[in-house]
Amino acid sequence: GNVWEQYSNKVIDRMNNPKYLGEFTEEDAKKRGLKLVVADFGSEACGDAVRLYWLVDPKTDKIVDARFKSFGCGTAIASSDMMTELTIGKTVDEAMKITNLDVEKALRDDPNTPAFPPQKMHCSVMAYDVIIEAAAKYKGKNADELRDNEIVC
Ligand code: FES
Ligand code: FES
Repeated sequence: GNVWEQYSNKVIDRMNNPKYLGEFTEEDAKKRGLKLVVADFGSEACGDAVRLYWLVDPKTDKIVDARFKSFGCGTAIASSDMMTELTIGKTVDEAMKITNLDVEKALRDDPNTPAFPPQKMHCSVMAYDVIIEAAAKYKGKNADELRDNEIVC
């Protein structure tokens, strides 16, 4: 069928108008008494990349605010935007439990219809991987040791 129809309205809205596209600086973090975390992840599948910014409250480990930047395709932008939103208000440990499958589900218009075609699933995997990179930076750990959720790509 028509490729266009394989994308949910949520994906189309967020790729055209992401809500959390942007960045935070050390200045922003200092002003609010929060810790800045900046993490990158690049996809081996397509060479695209995403950068995630968190402002974390060091007393509670809670992600108070978040932004992202992307070199990715439309699905990557929509997935990164949703992932960024899902991390806000969670602790770093809670955020680590978010997978690309959660992101894809959150982007569905209808619970039984995939948000994007299966060959774009790897674009959403970056959204999971960059969370782990950010969590590793915050904890001062190695990202590969923290990566244990099941992902589908
Ligand atoms: Fe797409 Fe793994 S990232 S195959
Ligand atoms: Fe590279 Fe989608 S094709 S992130």
